[in-house]
Amino acid sequence: MIEIGIQTAAYLFASILFILSLGGLSSQESAKRGVLYGIIGMLIAIVATVLGQGVEGHIYIIVAIAIAAVIGTLVARKVEMTSMPQLVAILHSFVGLAAVLVGFGSYLDVDTQSITGTEHTIHLIEVFIGVFIGAITFTGSIRAWGKLDGKIMSNPLLYPGRHIVNVVLLIACFVLGYLFTVAPGLDGMLYLYIMTAIASFIGIMLVMAIGGADMPVVVSMLNSYSGWAAAAAGFMLGNDLLIVTGALVGSSGAILSIIMCKAMNRSFISVILGGFGAVTSGVAQEMEGEVTALNHEAVAELLKEAKSVVIVPGYGMAVAKAQYPIFEMVQALRKEGKDVKFAIHPVAGRLPGHMNVLLAEANVPYDIVMEMDEINPDLPSTDVVMVIGANDVVNPGAQDDPASPIYGMPVIEAWKAKTVIVMKRSMAVGYAGVENPLFYKPNTEMLYGDAKDSVDKILGFLKG
Ligand code: TAP
Repeated sequence: MIEIGIQTAAYLFASILFILSLGGLSSQESAKRGVLYGIIGMLIAIVATVLGQGVEGHIYIIVAIAIAAVIGTLVARKVEMTSMPQLVAILHSFVGLAAVLVGFGSYLDVDTQSITGTEHTIHLIEVFIGVFIGAITFTGSIRAWGKLDGKIMSNPLLYPGRHIVNVVLLIACFVLGYLFTVAPGLDGMLYLYIMTAIASFIGIMLVMAIGGADMPVVVSMLNSYSGWAAAAAGFMLGNDLLIVTGALVGSSGAILSIIMCKAMNRSFISVILGGFGAVTSGVAQEMEGEVTALNHEAVAELLKEAKSVVIVPGYGMAVAKAQYPIFEMVQALRKEGKDVKFAIHPVAGRLPGHMNVLLAEANVPYDIVMEMDEINPDLPSTDVVMVIGANDVVNPGAQDDPASPIYGMPVIEAWKAKTVIVMKRSMAVGYAGVENPLFYKPNTEMLYGDAKDSVDKILGFLKG
Protein backbone atom coordinates (compact mmCIF):
# COMPACT_ATOMS: atom_id res chain seq x y z
CA MET A 1 0.00 0.00 0.00
CA ILE A 2 1.28 3.48 -0.80
CA GLU A 3 0.35 6.76 0.87
CA ILE A 4 -2.20 9.01 -0.87
CA GLY A 5 0.49 11.72 -1.24
CA ILE A 6 2.81 9.34 -3.08
CA GLN A 7 -0.03 8.17 -5.30
CA THR A 8 -0.93 11.77 -6.17
CA ALA A 9 2.71 12.54 -7.02
CA ALA A 10 2.87 9.39 -9.18
CA TYR A 11 -0.34 10.43 -10.96
CA LEU A 12 1.04 13.90 -11.60
CA PHE A 13 4.25 12.46 -13.01
CA ALA A 14 2.27 10.04 -15.21
CA SER A 15 0.11 12.93 -16.49
CA ILE A 16 3.24 14.88 -17.46
CA LEU A 17 4.58 11.81 -19.27
CA PHE A 18 1.29 11.46 -21.18
CA ILE A 19 1.46 15.10 -22.29
CA LEU A 20 5.09 14.64 -23.37
CA SER A 21 4.01 11.48 -25.16
CA LEU A 22 1.36 13.33 -27.17
CA GLY A 23 3.90 16.08 -27.94
CA GLY A 24 6.40 13.45 -29.14
CA LEU A 25 3.84 11.87 -31.46
CA SER A 26 3.47 15.11 -33.39
CA SER A 27 6.56 14.47 -35.52
CA GLN A 28 8.10 11.33 -36.98
CA GLU A 29 11.56 12.01 -35.54
CA SER A 30 10.25 12.13 -31.96
CA ALA A 31 7.42 9.57 -32.29
CA LYS A 32 9.39 6.63 -30.81
CA ARG A 33 10.33 8.73 -27.79
CA GLY A 34 6.67 9.76 -27.46
CA VAL A 35 5.55 6.13 -27.40
CA LEU A 36 8.19 5.34 -24.76
CA TYR A 37 6.94 8.20 -22.53
CA GLY A 38 3.43 6.82 -22.91
CA ILE A 39 4.49 3.30 -21.91
CA ILE A 40 6.38 4.53 -18.81
CA GLY A 41 3.47 6.82 -17.85
CA MET A 42 0.97 3.97 -18.13
CA LEU A 43 3.22 1.64 -16.11
CA ILE A 44 3.47 4.22 -13.32
CA ALA A 45 -0.29 4.82 -13.48
CA ILE A 46 -1.15 1.11 -13.18
CA VAL A 47 1.31 0.44 -10.33
CA ALA A 48 0.23 3.54 -8.39
CA THR A 49 -3.45 2.59 -8.78
CA VAL A 50 -3.08 -1.09 -7.92
CA LEU A 51 -1.01 -0.28 -4.83
CA GLY A 52 -3.41 2.52 -3.80
CA GLN A 53 -5.41 2.68 -0.57
CA GLY A 54 -8.53 0.53 -0.42
CA VAL A 55 -7.57 -1.71 -3.36
CA GLU A 56 -8.04 -5.38 -2.50
CA GLY A 57 -7.68 -8.70 -4.32
CA HIS A 58 -4.27 -7.94 -5.78
CA ILE A 59 -3.83 -11.50 -6.91
CA TYR A 60 -6.91 -11.29 -9.17
CA ILE A 61 -5.72 -7.97 -10.58
CA ILE A 62 -2.26 -9.39 -11.35
CA VAL A 63 -3.73 -12.51 -13.01
CA ALA A 64 -6.10 -10.32 -15.08
CA ILE A 65 -3.23 -8.02 -16.13
CA ALA A 66 -1.05 -11.03 -17.05
CA ILE A 67 -3.78 -12.59 -19.21
CA ALA A 68 -4.56 -9.24 -20.86
CA ALA A 69 -0.86 -8.58 -21.49
CA VAL A 70 -0.48 -11.95 -23.26
CA ILE A 71 -3.58 -11.36 -25.39
CA GLY A 72 -2.49 -7.78 -26.17
CA THR A 73 1.02 -8.86 -27.17
CA LEU A 74 -0.25 -11.68 -29.41
CA VAL A 75 -2.78 -9.42 -31.14
CA ALA A 76 -0.27 -6.58 -31.64
CA ARG A 77 2.34 -8.96 -33.10
CA LYS A 78 -0.15 -10.58 -35.44
CA VAL A 79 -1.99 -7.54 -36.75
CA GLU A 80 -1.10 -6.33 -40.24
CA MET A 81 -0.48 -2.59 -40.71
CA THR A 82 -3.49 -2.57 -43.05
CA SER A 83 -5.75 -3.88 -40.27
CA MET A 84 -4.70 -1.32 -37.65
CA PRO A 85 -7.86 0.83 -37.96
CA GLN A 86 -10.02 -2.20 -37.14
CA LEU A 87 -7.85 -2.95 -34.11
CA VAL A 88 -8.04 0.67 -32.95
CA ALA A 89 -11.83 0.62 -33.37
CA ILE A 90 -12.25 -2.56 -31.36
CA LEU A 91 -9.96 -1.21 -28.61
CA HIS A 92 -12.14 1.91 -28.42
CA SER A 93 -15.14 -0.37 -27.90
CA PHE A 94 -13.41 -1.84 -24.82
CA VAL A 95 -13.06 1.65 -23.31
CA GLY A 96 -16.77 2.26 -23.94
CA LEU A 97 -17.75 -1.06 -22.37
CA ALA A 98 -15.48 -0.38 -19.38
CA ALA A 99 -17.20 2.98 -18.80
CA VAL A 100 -20.63 1.28 -18.90
CA LEU A 101 -19.55 -1.42 -16.44
CA VAL A 102 -17.88 1.12 -14.13
CA GLY A 103 -21.14 3.11 -14.21
CA PHE A 104 -23.27 0.11 -13.24
CA GLY A 105 -20.77 -0.93 -10.56
CA SER A 106 -20.53 2.59 -9.19
CA TYR A 107 -24.32 2.91 -8.94
CA LEU A 108 -24.68 -0.42 -7.14
CA ASP A 109 -21.69 0.27 -4.84
CA VAL A 110 -22.72 0.45 -1.17
CA ASP A 111 -20.50 3.51 -0.70
CA THR A 112 -22.53 5.35 -3.35
CA GLN A 113 -25.71 4.46 -1.54
CA SER A 114 -24.36 5.94 1.67
CA ILE A 115 -23.71 9.45 0.23
CA THR A 116 -26.60 11.91 0.35
CA GLY A 117 -27.79 15.33 -0.82
CA THR A 118 -26.17 17.28 -3.65
CA GLU A 119 -23.07 15.10 -3.63
CA HIS A 120 -25.27 12.06 -4.31
CA THR A 121 -27.10 13.82 -7.16
CA ILE A 122 -23.81 14.91 -8.75
CA HIS A 123 -22.49 11.36 -8.54
CA LEU A 124 -25.64 9.98 -10.16
CA ILE A 125 -25.30 12.51 -13.00
CA GLU A 126 -21.68 11.38 -13.48
CA VAL A 127 -22.83 7.75 -13.63
CA PHE A 128 -25.61 8.53 -16.10
CA ILE A 129 -23.42 10.59 -18.45
CA GLY A 130 -20.55 8.07 -18.19
CA VAL A 131 -22.80 5.14 -19.11
CA PHE A 132 -24.39 7.18 -21.93
CA ILE A 133 -21.06 8.09 -23.58
CA GLY A 134 -19.68 4.60 -22.87
CA ALA A 135 -22.62 2.82 -24.54
CA ILE A 136 -22.45 5.03 -27.66
CA THR A 137 -18.69 4.46 -27.87
CA PHE A 138 -19.10 0.70 -27.36
CA THR A 139 -21.65 -0.03 -30.07
CA GLY A 140 -20.39 2.71 -32.42
CA SER A 141 -16.87 1.26 -32.29
CA ILE A 142 -18.08 -2.29 -32.90
CA ARG A 143 -19.99 -1.02 -35.95
CA ALA A 144 -16.90 0.87 -37.14
CA TRP A 145 -14.82 -2.28 -36.71
CA GLY A 146 -17.33 -4.26 -38.78
CA LYS A 147 -17.31 -1.66 -41.55
CA LEU A 148 -13.54 -1.30 -41.66
CA ASP A 149 -13.11 -5.07 -41.65
CA GLY A 150 -15.56 -5.45 -44.52
CA LYS A 151 -17.94 -7.49 -42.34
CA ILE A 152 -20.65 -4.86 -42.75
CA MET A 153 -21.39 -2.94 -45.95
CA SER A 154 -19.56 0.40 -46.03
CA ASN A 155 -22.47 2.21 -47.76
CA PRO A 156 -24.23 4.71 -45.52
CA LEU A 157 -27.50 3.35 -44.11
CA LEU A 158 -29.95 6.20 -44.11
CA TYR A 159 -33.66 6.28 -43.41
CA PRO A 160 -36.02 9.24 -43.66
CA GLY A 161 -36.49 11.26 -40.49
CA ARG A 162 -33.47 9.74 -38.75
CA HIS A 163 -32.38 13.11 -37.33
CA ILE A 164 -35.83 13.52 -35.76
CA VAL A 165 -35.61 9.98 -34.33
CA ASN A 166 -32.18 10.83 -32.86
CA VAL A 167 -33.51 14.02 -31.27
CA VAL A 168 -36.51 12.14 -29.79
CA LEU A 169 -34.15 9.49 -28.39
CA LEU A 170 -31.93 12.20 -26.88
CA ILE A 171 -34.94 13.86 -25.22
CA ALA A 172 -35.98 10.43 -23.88
CA CYS A 173 -32.49 10.07 -22.38
CA PHE A 174 -32.82 13.47 -20.66
CA VAL A 175 -36.16 12.40 -19.13
CA LEU A 176 -34.68 9.06 -18.05
CA GLY A 177 -31.73 10.94 -16.56
CA TYR A 178 -34.08 13.05 -14.44
CA LEU A 179 -36.05 9.97 -13.29
CA PHE A 180 -32.76 8.22 -12.51
CA THR A 181 -31.46 10.99 -10.27
CA VAL A 182 -34.67 11.28 -8.24
CA ALA A 183 -35.34 7.52 -7.91
CA PRO A 184 -34.99 6.23 -4.35
CA GLY A 185 -32.48 3.48 -3.40
CA LEU A 186 -31.55 1.29 -6.33
CA ASP A 187 -34.82 1.90 -8.21
CA GLY A 188 -32.96 3.97 -10.82
CA MET A 189 -31.37 0.81 -12.25
CA LEU A 190 -34.32 0.29 -14.62
CA TYR A 191 -33.87 3.81 -16.09
CA LEU A 192 -30.15 3.17 -16.43
CA TYR A 193 -30.81 -0.05 -18.36
CA ILE A 194 -33.33 1.64 -20.70
CA MET A 195 -30.96 4.55 -21.35
CA THR A 196 -28.09 2.09 -22.05
CA ALA A 197 -30.24 0.35 -24.66
CA ILE A 198 -31.14 3.69 -26.29
CA ALA A 199 -27.53 4.96 -26.26
CA SER A 200 -26.35 1.64 -27.75
CA PHE A 201 -28.88 2.08 -30.55
CA ILE A 202 -27.75 5.71 -31.14
CA GLY A 203 -24.12 4.51 -31.35
CA ILE A 204 -24.99 1.92 -34.00
CA MET A 205 -27.11 4.32 -36.05
CA LEU A 206 -24.55 7.17 -35.93
CA VAL A 207 -21.86 5.01 -37.48
CA MET A 208 -24.19 3.13 -39.83
CA ALA A 209 -25.20 6.46 -41.35
CA ILE A 210 -21.64 7.29 -42.37
CA GLY A 211 -20.30 6.33 -45.78
CA GLY A 212 -17.03 4.48 -46.44
CA ALA A 213 -15.15 7.54 -47.67
CA ASP A 214 -15.74 9.31 -44.37
CA MET A 215 -14.71 6.43 -42.09
CA PRO A 216 -11.25 7.92 -41.26
CA VAL A 217 -12.95 10.76 -39.42
CA VAL A 218 -15.21 8.30 -37.62
CA VAL A 219 -12.22 6.39 -36.28
CA SER A 220 -10.64 9.53 -34.82
CA MET A 221 -14.03 10.71 -33.55
CA LEU A 222 -14.59 7.42 -31.72
CA ASN A 223 -11.09 7.85 -30.33
CA SER A 224 -12.28 11.15 -28.91
CA TYR A 225 -15.50 9.58 -27.55
CA SER A 226 -13.48 6.82 -25.86
CA GLY A 227 -11.40 9.53 -24.14
CA TRP A 228 -14.52 11.23 -22.79
CA ALA A 229 -15.87 7.83 -21.70
CA ALA A 230 -12.62 7.24 -19.78
CA ALA A 231 -12.80 10.74 -18.24
CA ALA A 232 -16.38 10.02 -17.15
CA ALA A 233 -15.20 6.75 -15.58
CA GLY A 234 -12.53 8.81 -13.78
CA PHE A 235 -15.22 11.04 -12.29
CA MET A 236 -17.25 8.02 -11.18
CA LEU A 237 -14.26 6.39 -9.55
CA GLY A 238 -12.86 9.64 -8.16
CA ASN A 239 -9.61 8.93 -10.02
CA ASP A 240 -7.87 12.16 -11.06
CA LEU A 241 -5.42 10.51 -13.41
CA LEU A 242 -8.20 8.82 -15.37
CA ILE A 243 -9.94 12.19 -15.70
CA VAL A 244 -6.76 13.86 -16.99
CA THR A 245 -5.89 10.99 -19.34
CA GLY A 246 -9.45 10.76 -20.63
CA ALA A 247 -9.54 14.50 -21.26
CA LEU A 248 -6.19 14.30 -23.11
CA VAL A 249 -7.43 11.49 -25.34
CA GLY A 250 -10.84 13.13 -25.78
CA SER A 251 -9.47 16.51 -26.79
CA SER A 252 -6.59 15.21 -28.93
CA GLY A 253 -9.07 12.90 -30.73
CA ALA A 254 -11.38 15.87 -31.30
CA ILE A 255 -8.50 18.01 -32.65
CA LEU A 256 -7.45 15.17 -34.98
CA SER A 257 -11.06 14.83 -36.16
CA ILE A 258 -11.18 18.56 -36.95
CA ILE A 259 -7.87 18.37 -38.84
CA MET A 260 -9.13 15.36 -40.82
CA CYS A 261 -12.45 17.05 -41.55
CA LYS A 262 -10.50 20.00 -42.97
CA ALA A 263 -8.36 17.59 -45.02
CA MET A 264 -11.53 16.04 -46.44
CA ASN A 265 -13.48 19.30 -46.66
CA ARG A 266 -16.23 18.00 -44.38
CA SER A 267 -18.12 19.84 -41.69
CA PHE A 268 -17.16 18.70 -38.18
CA ILE A 269 -20.67 19.25 -36.84
CA SER A 270 -22.16 16.97 -39.49
CA VAL A 271 -19.62 14.33 -38.52
CA ILE A 272 -20.50 14.28 -34.85
CA LEU A 273 -24.17 14.19 -35.73
CA GLY A 274 -23.57 11.26 -38.08
CA GLY A 275 -24.72 10.60 -41.60
CA PHE A 276 -22.66 13.23 -43.39
CA GLY A 277 -21.48 10.73 -46.00
CA ALA A 278 -24.60 11.19 -48.05
CA VAL A 279 -24.42 14.81 -49.05
CA THR A 280 -24.23 14.16 -52.77
CA SER A 281 -27.01 14.24 -55.28
CA GLY A 282 -27.48 13.61 -58.97
CA VAL A 283 -25.98 11.04 -61.27
CA ALA A 284 -22.25 10.28 -61.28
CA GLN A 285 -20.30 11.58 -64.27
CA GLU A 286 -19.87 9.28 -67.27
CA MET A 287 -16.25 8.30 -67.84
CA GLU A 288 -14.88 9.89 -71.00
CA GLY A 289 -11.74 8.89 -72.87
CA GLU A 290 -9.85 5.67 -73.31
CA VAL A 291 -7.77 3.67 -70.90
CA THR A 292 -4.26 2.92 -72.14
CA ALA A 293 -1.65 0.70 -70.51
CA LEU A 294 2.12 0.29 -70.64
CA ASN A 295 4.44 -2.57 -69.74
CA HIS A 296 7.22 -2.47 -67.13
CA GLU A 297 9.99 -1.85 -69.63
CA ALA A 298 8.20 1.17 -71.13
CA VAL A 299 7.65 2.62 -67.66
CA ALA A 300 11.35 2.16 -66.86
CA GLU A 301 12.18 4.04 -70.09
CA LEU A 302 9.85 6.89 -69.11
CA LEU A 303 11.56 7.12 -65.74
CA LYS A 304 15.01 7.16 -67.35
CA GLU A 305 13.98 10.12 -69.48
CA ALA A 306 12.28 12.05 -66.66
CA LYS A 307 14.03 14.77 -64.68
CA SER A 308 11.44 14.98 -61.91
CA VAL A 309 9.36 12.14 -60.48
CA VAL A 310 6.67 12.26 -57.78
CA ILE A 311 5.41 9.05 -56.17
CA VAL A 312 1.90 8.99 -54.73
CA PRO A 313 1.51 5.94 -52.49
CA GLY A 314 -1.82 4.60 -51.28
CA TYR A 315 -3.47 1.66 -49.60
CA GLY A 316 -2.30 -0.73 -52.37
CA MET A 317 1.33 -0.01 -51.48
CA ALA A 318 0.58 -1.10 -47.91
CA VAL A 319 -1.17 -4.29 -49.05
CA ALA A 320 1.66 -5.20 -51.43
CA LYS A 321 4.37 -4.16 -48.88
CA ALA A 322 5.97 -2.38 -51.82
CA GLN A 323 7.65 0.36 -49.76
CA TYR A 324 11.02 -1.45 -49.70
CA PRO A 325 11.53 -1.94 -53.47
CA ILE A 326 10.01 1.53 -54.04
CA PHE A 327 12.72 3.10 -51.92
CA GLU A 328 15.33 1.04 -53.79
CA MET A 329 13.91 2.42 -57.04
CA VAL A 330 13.98 5.96 -55.62
CA GLN A 331 17.63 5.55 -54.65
CA ALA A 332 18.48 4.27 -58.15
CA LEU A 333 16.72 7.27 -59.74
CA ARG A 334 18.32 9.78 -57.37
CA LYS A 335 21.73 8.35 -58.22
CA GLU A 336 21.01 9.36 -61.80
CA GLY A 337 20.49 12.94 -60.60
CA LYS A 338 16.70 12.91 -60.82
CA ASP A 339 14.52 14.89 -58.45
CA VAL A 340 12.32 12.26 -56.73
CA LYS A 341 9.75 13.01 -54.05
CA PHE A 342 6.80 11.35 -52.33
CA ALA A 343 3.39 13.04 -52.12
CA ILE A 344 1.32 12.06 -49.10
CA HIS A 345 -2.41 12.62 -48.86
CA PRO A 346 -3.66 12.99 -45.26
CA VAL A 347 -6.10 10.09 -45.62
CA ALA A 348 -4.10 7.83 -47.94
CA GLY A 349 -4.26 4.26 -46.68
CA ARG A 350 -6.48 3.25 -43.84
CA LEU A 351 -5.34 5.23 -40.81
CA PRO A 352 -3.86 8.66 -40.09
CA GLY A 353 -0.17 8.71 -40.97
CA HIS A 354 -0.35 5.23 -42.57
CA MET A 355 1.91 6.10 -45.51
CA ASN A 356 4.40 8.04 -43.35
CA VAL A 357 4.82 5.04 -41.06
CA LEU A 358 5.41 2.64 -43.97
CA LEU A 359 7.93 4.95 -45.67
CA ALA A 360 9.75 5.51 -42.37
CA GLU A 361 9.85 1.71 -41.96
CA ALA A 362 11.68 1.52 -45.30
CA ASN A 363 14.08 4.30 -44.17
CA VAL A 364 12.90 6.86 -46.71
CA PRO A 365 14.42 10.23 -45.61
CA TYR A 366 11.79 12.65 -44.29
CA ASP A 367 12.96 15.55 -46.45
CA ILE A 368 11.68 13.92 -49.66
CA VAL A 369 8.28 13.08 -48.15
CA MET A 370 5.92 15.99 -48.95
CA GLU A 371 2.45 16.80 -47.73
CA MET A 372 -0.32 17.23 -50.32
CA ASP A 373 -0.43 21.04 -49.99
CA GLU A 374 3.33 21.32 -50.39
CA ILE A 375 3.54 19.19 -53.53
CA ASN A 376 0.39 20.17 -55.47
CA PRO A 377 1.88 23.44 -56.84
CA ASP A 378 4.91 21.48 -58.17
CA LEU A 379 2.90 18.88 -60.09
CA PRO A 380 2.30 20.87 -63.34
CA SER A 381 6.07 21.02 -63.81
CA THR A 382 6.64 17.36 -62.88
CA ASP A 383 7.61 14.93 -65.65
CA VAL A 384 6.24 11.69 -64.20
CA VAL A 385 3.81 11.04 -61.35
CA MET A 386 3.71 7.39 -60.25
CA VAL A 387 0.49 6.55 -58.44
CA ILE A 388 1.26 3.33 -56.58
CA GLY A 389 -1.79 1.54 -55.14
CA ALA A 390 -3.65 4.83 -54.59
CA ASN A 391 -7.02 5.66 -56.04
CA ASP A 392 -9.46 7.95 -54.18
CA VAL A 393 -6.72 10.38 -53.14
CA VAL A 394 -5.92 11.19 -56.80
CA ASN A 395 -9.50 11.29 -58.07
CA PRO A 396 -10.13 14.50 -60.10
CA GLY A 397 -13.89 13.95 -59.56
CA ALA A 398 -13.35 15.36 -56.07
CA GLN A 399 -12.81 18.73 -57.78
CA ASP A 400 -15.12 18.64 -60.78
CA ASP A 401 -17.94 16.13 -60.19
CA PRO A 402 -20.53 17.49 -57.72
CA ALA A 403 -22.30 14.09 -57.82
CA SER A 404 -19.24 12.25 -56.52
CA PRO A 405 -19.36 11.11 -52.86
CA ILE A 406 -15.87 12.55 -52.44
CA TYR A 407 -16.70 15.90 -54.08
CA GLY A 408 -14.98 18.70 -52.17
CA MET A 409 -12.27 16.48 -50.67
CA PRO A 410 -8.84 17.96 -51.43
CA VAL A 411 -6.84 15.57 -53.62
CA ILE A 412 -3.32 15.22 -55.02
CA GLU A 413 -3.56 16.75 -58.49
CA ALA A 414 -1.60 13.97 -60.22
CA TRP A 415 -3.32 14.60 -63.59
CA LYS A 416 -1.52 17.95 -63.93
CA ALA A 417 1.85 16.24 -64.46
CA LYS A 418 3.18 15.58 -67.97
CA THR A 419 2.72 11.81 -67.61
CA VAL A 420 0.87 9.83 -64.95
CA ILE A 421 1.52 6.13 -64.37
CA VAL A 422 -1.14 4.38 -62.30
CA MET A 423 0.02 1.09 -60.80
CA LYS A 424 -2.77 -1.18 -59.58
CA ARG A 425 -4.04 -4.67 -60.31
CA SER A 426 -7.21 -3.82 -62.22
CA MET A 427 -9.71 -1.06 -62.96
CA ALA A 428 -11.40 -1.72 -59.59
CA VAL A 429 -12.63 1.22 -57.51
CA GLY A 430 -10.98 2.38 -54.26
CA TYR A 431 -12.35 2.54 -50.72
CA ALA A 432 -14.98 5.19 -51.48
CA GLY A 433 -16.38 2.96 -54.24
CA VAL A 434 -16.23 5.62 -56.98
CA GLU A 435 -14.89 5.47 -60.54
CA ASN A 436 -11.72 7.44 -61.16
CA PRO A 437 -11.65 9.68 -64.28
CA LEU A 438 -7.85 9.96 -63.88
CA PHE A 439 -7.46 6.52 -65.49
CA TYR A 440 -9.17 7.83 -68.65
CA LYS A 441 -7.04 10.96 -69.11
CA PRO A 442 -4.86 11.15 -72.26
CA ASN A 443 -1.67 11.66 -70.20
CA THR A 444 -2.38 8.64 -67.93
CA GLU A 445 -0.96 5.17 -68.50
CA MET A 446 -2.00 2.16 -66.45
CA LEU A 447 0.51 -0.45 -65.30
CA TYR A 448 -1.45 -3.45 -64.12
CA GLY A 449 -0.20 -5.87 -61.47
CA ASP A 450 0.73 -6.17 -57.82
CA ALA A 451 2.61 -3.03 -56.76
CA LYS A 452 5.63 -4.87 -55.33
CA ASP A 453 5.93 -7.15 -58.37
CA SER A 454 5.71 -4.21 -60.73
CA VAL A 455 8.28 -2.12 -58.88
CA ASP A 456 10.66 -5.10 -58.72
CA LYS A 457 10.36 -5.52 -62.50
CA ILE A 458 10.86 -1.79 -63.18
CA LEU A 459 13.89 -1.84 -60.92
CA GLY A 460 15.26 -4.75 -62.95
CA PHE A 461 14.96 -2.70 -66.18
CA LEU A 462 16.42 0.43 -64.52
CA LYS A 463 19.46 -1.48 -63.27
CA GLY A 464 19.85 -3.76 -66.29
P1 TAP B 1 -7.99 3.43 -52.17
O1 TAP B 1 -8.78 4.52 -52.76
O2 TAP B 1 -8.67 2.47 -51.26
O3 TAP B 1 -7.33 2.64 -53.38
C1 TAP B 1 -6.37 1.67 -53.19
C2 TAP B 1 -6.13 0.99 -54.51
O4 TAP B 1 -5.04 0.11 -54.33
C3 TAP B 1 -7.30 0.16 -54.99
O5 TAP B 1 -8.02 0.83 -56.00
C4 TAP B 1 -6.66 -1.15 -55.47
O6 TAP B 1 -6.94 -1.34 -56.84
C5 TAP B 1 -5.17 -0.92 -55.26
N1 TAP B 1 -4.50 -2.11 -54.72
C6 TAP B 1 -4.92 -2.95 -53.77
N2 TAP B 1 -4.03 -3.94 -53.56
C7 TAP B 1 -3.00 -3.70 -54.43
C8 TAP B 1 -1.79 -4.36 -54.70
N3 TAP B 1 -1.42 -5.47 -54.05
N4 TAP B 1 -0.98 -3.82 -55.64
C9 TAP B 1 -1.34 -2.71 -56.32
N5 TAP B 1 -2.48 -2.05 -56.10
C10 TAP B 1 -3.31 -2.54 -55.16
O7 TAP B 1 -6.73 3.98 -51.37
P2 TAP B 1 -6.16 5.44 -51.19
O8 TAP B 1 -6.02 6.13 -52.51
O9 TAP B 1 -4.96 5.29 -50.31
O10 TAP B 1 -7.31 6.22 -50.44
C11 TAP B 1 -7.62 5.90 -49.12
C12 TAP B 1 -9.13 5.68 -49.00
O11 TAP B 1 -9.38 5.01 -47.78
C13 TAP B 1 -9.87 7.00 -48.96
O12 TAP B 1 -11.15 6.86 -49.55
C14 TAP B 1 -10.01 7.24 -47.47
O13 TAP B 1 -11.08 8.08 -47.14
C15 TAP B 1 -10.24 5.82 -46.98
N6 TAP B 1 -9.88 5.58 -45.59
C16 TAP B 1 -8.78 6.22 -45.08
C17 TAP B 1 -8.47 6.06 -43.76
C18 TAP B 1 -7.30 6.86 -43.23
S1 TAP B 1 -7.38 7.52 -41.82
N7 TAP B 1 -6.26 7.04 -43.97
C19 TAP B 1 -9.23 5.18 -42.93
C20 TAP B 1 -10.31 4.48 -43.51
C21 TAP B 1 -10.62 4.72 -44.85
P3 TAP B 1 -6.89 -2.82 -57.47
O14 TAP B 1 -7.85 -3.64 -56.69
O15 TAP B 1 -7.27 -2.61 -58.90
O16 TAP B 1 -5.48 -3.31 -57.33
